Amino acid sequence: MTNRQSSPTREQILEALRDVQDPELHRSIVELNMVREIAVKDGWVTVEVLLTISGCPLRETIANAVTERIRAIPGVSDVEVRLGVMDREQRQALVRQLHGGELPASPDGATPPPRMQGLLAEGSTTRVIAIASGKGGVGKSTVTANLAAAMALDGRRVGVIDADIYGFSIPRMLGVTGRPTAIDQMLIPLESDGIRVMSIGFLMPDESEAVVWRGPMLHRALVTFISDVHWGDDLEYLLIDLPPGTGDVSLTIAQTLPRSSMLIVTTPQPAAVSVARRAAKMAELVNMEVIGVVENMSGFTPAPGAPTVDLFGRGGGQRLAGILGVPLLGEIPIDLALREGGDSGLPLVRTHPDSPASKVLREVARRVVARLPVATRASEGRIP
Ligand SMILES: Nc1ncnc2c1ncn2[C@@H]1O[C@H](COP(=O)(O)OP(=O)(O)OP(=O)(O)O)[C@@H](O)[C@H]1O
Ligand SMILES: [Mg+2]
Repeated sequence: MTNRQSSPTREQILEALRDVQDPELHRSIVELNMVREIAVKDGWVTVEVLLTISGCPLRETIANAVTERIRAIPGVSDVEVRLGVMDREQRQALVRQLHGGELPASPDGATPPPRMQGLLAEGSTTRVIAIASGKGGVGKSTVTANLAAAMALDGRRVGVIDADIYGFSIPRMLGVTGRPTAIDQMLIPLESDGIRVMSIGFLMPDESEAVVWRGPMLHRALVTFISDVHWGDDLEYLLIDLPPGTGDVSLTIAQTLPRSSMLIVTTPQPAAVSVARRAAKMAELVNMEVIGVVENMSGFTPAPGAPTVDLFGRGGGQRLAGILGVPLLGEIPIDLALREGGDSGLPLVRTHPDSPASKVLREVARRVVARLPVATRASEGRIP
């Protein structure tokens, strides 16, 4: 004997699917108007879900999530998910929607979804932090990669822009390779352990390729990374790894994202400090707030308990912070595993959470978050 329940309504199905997100776009597939045909017959549900591109690498993930949600509705006996692909017009409508343009009618004809925003929108709540030094090779990229990983470990939604167009190193340090999905003119960042990442390295034929770009092209590439990449308006922190000698790039960031902040990395020796001061001066000129100083390579302890050797001098971070009137957020020791982690794409804070360098990096991440808190959103916690 079967206990027949009435079939679910179209509205019930859409409601059940509202929590399913497109894994790349980080938005509800219902809000994005990806759920199209819905047919229900005697407990049999057939839905058509339109993907953005035919080669969508996450089609299985979406199909499984949809099946699971619908199956959980009382009265459903079986589910068939048909995956289709948006045509050009539908894709353009989606991109307009993600950029904050007009919204397509929602499939249930009910209230339209909330207006969406990009990084450039007035109401964007994403905190943008540029990681700068003055001198090259002091550890900006290492600090950026590990701060991003530390923030992600603390449950923050974080992204990284590798603004070092000539010498990109973020893909290697975060262990992320591949090509970003492009939906018309919009690029979807790649992800590594939940960190959204964009680098010129993803767009190059191979890593060893030299980029011979002039200033204006550099500017354009960075503006593209800011405005044409779908960071998602749930992104809380966006870290920008700057190249050494940061004048032009800081200017581009300050012009494009006027509310961004700067974190300055220095080594302990006086030469690095005086160059780092120039980066801070630049920040001041372009009206970016310096939120703190991080000292890197602050001494080396050859073995546990052995005396620390100040390979690169001492006290530079404290001095610089004093001069700038900002806090010293941490002193990161020299750690072989930190360098190895950068080379192998496994951030130290993940692989060696208890190492002294990791503890400092995680503390720096928390101090940055405390200094730049984000507003919590009503839509928190929606995971497919
Ligand atoms: N605290 C540390 N202990 C050991 N090695 C480190 C540390 N910080 C950075 N390194 C290593 O030093 C090298 C330079 O670091 P990184 O590339 O992060 O510097 P950068 O400031 O981004 O350089 P560039 O100016 O070229 O962009 C890398 O090989 C990195 O792994
Ligand atoms: Mg670098």
